[in-house]
Amino acid sequence: MAEKAWDGRFSEKTDKSVEKFTSSIEVDQRLYPYDIEGSIAHCMMLARTSVISEKDAVLLIEGLKKIRQELDQGLFKFDDSLEDIHMHIETRLAEKIGGVARKLHTARSRNDQVALDVRMYLRDKTSGIIKNLNEFQKVIIDFAETHIDTVMPGYTHLQRAQPVLLAHHLLAYYEMLERDTQRLTDSLKRTNIMPLGAAALAGTTYPIDRAYTAELLDFPVISSNSIDSVSDRDFIIEFLTAAGICMMHLSRLSEELILWSSSEFSFIELPDSFATGSSIMPQKKNPDVPELVRGKTGKIYGNLMAMLTVMKSLPLAYNRDMQEDKSILFDSVDTLKACVEIFTKMLPHIKVFKNNLKKAASTGFLNATDMADYLVTKGMPFREAHSCVGRAVGYALEKKKELDELTLSELQSFSELIKEDIFKVLTINAMVDRRKSFGGTAPGNVREALNKAKNKLNFLRDH
Ligand code: ARG
Repeated sequence: MAEKAWDGRFSEKTDKSVEKFTSSIEVDQRLYPYDIEGSIAHCMMLARTSVISEKDAVLLIEGLKKIRQELDQGLFKFDDSLEDIHMHIETRLAEKIGGVARKLHTARSRNDQVALDVRMYLRDKTSGIIKNLNEFQKVIIDFAETHIDTVMPGYTHLQRAQPVLLAHHLLAYYEMLERDTQRLTDSLKRTNIMPLGAAALAGTTYPIDRAYTAELLDFPVISSNSIDSVSDRDFIIEFLTAAGICMMHLSRLSEELILWSSSEFSFIELPDSFATGSSIMPQKKNPDVPELVRGKTGKIYGNLMAMLTVMKSLPLAYNRDMQEDKSILFDSVDTLKACVEIFTKMLPHIKVFKNNLKKAASTGFLNATDMADYLVTKGMPFREAHSCVGRAVGYALEKKKELDELTLSELQSFSELIKEDIFKVLTINAMVDRRKSFGGTAPGNVREALNKAKNKLNFLRDH
């Protein structure tokens, strides 16, 4: 059993079950690149402020770099008795360079150290996920572009409402993802704050230079209050919130892909390579990928609730409860990334049955609003036009016809304002083309929105 860094005041050895219970190494070992980078910066700062000698700093840094290699190569041995990644690295350093290793932790506590590591980890992962989201947006735009003239029924209450372009529908997801990237980018401002130097909670008696450490680690800001520095996990909660909202968007897309690929809709077919079969029903092709994304959304919401609850009512400053933050955070980071990546891969291979979409848009009186609008242009107040068309729909239902399948005289029985030109208004293309209001589904608008989105993503790619 390794010697513990803190066992000076203890007269009994820690019970094995307690070691296992309190250990977090299985979870937090993945913080090691950040822990070592942070420790190297800390050493450089200690040498610069003459808290330790240059010679000692060189030894410490060389030792840390060798440990990094051992970890990278999977040669490092983990042991529950050493609790967490911070203790593991420090203990290994002592094995490698002897007593000097004991100087690494001068002017530092694991409380500010772990806060630093998690912030470095999360800023890295948040930036990565923003890039993943941009790639997904790009795929959505490319897909939308190939469907600039594909008409489909737009829905409200999951009832056919008005025809829209598939490209317009897809661009709604582009917008959601745009807000997701904005939220993540905004949360980065509060993640990217350097807490090291808060020590256990009160700051330190050594003449440290926190701004220098921050500069070395590329942090634009240092935390202002040492107690808050070791207590704050808001940045994790903000990430989990943004992740939850993003997963909610992905779950809505999932649901549509699942519905649309059912034989009831038959709007799309998912690629064979992204579906699975049934072990009993030979005919089945199941939409497992979107189903799992939809299901994982529940877990991501749960992670947010878990983290809020871990932090609820915790007295200042650090409490061991907070160690639970990492499994929650890592799970959300991994899950969100995996979901965005798999959708990015799958989307371009989805087959769209344009004719079925068009057929669905042609039935179910999706032109009723347009007929009412037509009567309004002829001078009828909208409410009156609404009820007039309602009667026409009732009549057409009885005759098992669509509005545009009624004869002119049948239509005229509902209003004398109706003339031959009504039929031009009631076609799908006319309905889509005429919705030119800003943000509407007219092809010109959608083309413009596509170009704007493309320019934005190209700009991001080049900068
Ligand atoms: N493993 C701990 C965590 O993740 C590191 C901080 C431990 N601090 C302490 N005072 N025991 O929170």
